[in-house]
Amino acid sequence: MKRTHIKELKECVGHGVVIQGWVHIRRDQGKMVFLDIRDASGVVQSVILPKSEAIEMGKVVREEFVVQVEGIVRERPEQNKKKDVQNGDIELEIQKLTLLNEASTPPFPLNEDTRSVDESVRLEYRYLDLRNARMQKNITNRSRAQYLIRTLLEKEGFLEIETPLLSAPTPEGSRSFVVPSRVYRGNFYSLPQSPQQYKQLLMVGGVEKYFQFARCMRDEDTRGDRQPEFTQLDMEMAFVTQEEVMQLNERLLVETVRTLYPHKHIQEIPFPRMTYKEAVEKYGSDKPDIRKDKNDPNLLAFLWVIDFPMFEKTGEDNVDGTGEWTFTHNPFSKPKDEHMELFMKKENIGDIQTTQYDITLNGSEIGGGSIRNHQSEALKTTFEIMGYNEDRIQTNFGHMLKALQFGAPPHGGIAWGFDRLLMILENEQNIREVIPFAKTGDGKDLMMHAPAEIPDIQKKELGIQVLSKEI
Ligand code: AMO
Repeated sequence: MKRTHIKELKECVGHGVVIQGWVHIRRDQGKMVFLDIRDASGVVQSVILPKSEAIEMGKVVREEFVVQVEGIVRERPEQNKKKDVQNGDIELEIQKLTLLNEASTPPFPLNEDTRSVDESVRLEYRYLDLRNARMQKNITNRSRAQYLIRTLLEKEGFLEIETPLLSAPTPEGSRSFVVPSRVYRGNFYSLPQSPQQYKQLLMVGGVEKYFQFARCMRDEDTRGDRQPEFTQLDMEMAFVTQEEVMQLNERLLVETVRTLYPHKHIQEIPFPRMTYKEAVEKYGSDKPDIRKDKNDPNLLAFLWVIDFPMFEKTGEDNVDGTGEWTFTHNPFSKPKDEHMELFMKKENIGDIQTTQYDITLNGSEIGGGSIRNHQSEALKTTFEIMGYNEDRIQTNFGHMLKALQFGAPPHGGIAWGFDRLLMILENEQNIREVIPFAKTGDGKDLMMHAPAEIPDIQKKELGIQVLSKEI
């Protein structure tokens, strides 16, 4: 007989079915055994009646054992019906129980919320943690959101294009992870902090609308809303205005919320806009939480923050800057039209504002983008303002400056912190709850044991020697 999924059982009352899944809960009442059986589509209560031949196996199985159940779907007596519970008005009478695989006792119970379990244990056994109902919901909604956004962007004429992971360093404000080359000893690839340069090069390549769910790697201190490896919904468009990028993104966000989170309400549509200056003066933050009721878990207050200064003075711990000034967001951003003249003359640097727009939600920065400097000379000016000499400019950005000289169209884009957005939509406190295989706060993969030492032979092959383990 063909397997029935548990969510379909309510259509099968009175019929014989075969289901496969895990033993979710087991209650042995001596003569009878109750088993809640779970598959990816849900849970159903099942019973082995005293005279059933399945009773013997019912005594053997334990929670998380994998089983096949043959039985008959029965309507529960009126007094046993449970409202608002999946399959609350049916029960499966088990006739045959087949063991498909045994399971060791899980290190924590999977049939209750795992949030209270020590997170390092959850991360070590992530494959078990993912069986938990809340984590299943989070990964399901993550997949649905990606699918929906892909569909919407496809309709808008976007192409989904993958860009390389083995790449050259990108200046995104953090440190890059590096990968040693075996063939070109002493040379390293860098893992991308974002596909920024590639997506701009796609615009030069005649792609007018690009998007990607892009994996980004940043070697920075992690926090509750940061991971060393995360996902952006990355977009870029040619011949586009700031207004058009903002409106498209607003439509996407509203549609995502309305389709997948219909119980949530958006405080204000169109999303309000605030200048950086106003945000900092009024809220002391460039990502203000403007919710009217901070206790309402279903309230979503989106806010655009605009008119950022383009440059700021370098701090001592600045990774990239050698000059007095560094970029606040993105070195490829274009200044606002009215500040272009000051910018090209390199005057009043601190007053120059960029076309950067950040999208914030309930006090978190969930995305940011800008219109780019699509003319080579203008982009070079940014690096000159940052005090880079000709050598450094050519070494690091010569390829971009060259590409822009071949008829680069005006272009702009944005990237959402996709995990951060989901974290808020799922009312989670931590980004790790919406990332299937997350790393710890200090960047370790406890399940796969990464980062790890590599064998001496491999180091030798790569021409690598570890001088000290201290940092
Ligand atoms: P930015 O650096 O602002 O822009 O990144 C875009 C969004 O990505 C999210 N984010 C992170 N999420 C999780 N963990 C991290 N470590 C992390 N770092 C950033 C944030 C942020 O708003 N190339 C530009 C985009 C563009 O201009 O188009 C960029 O990467 O939500």
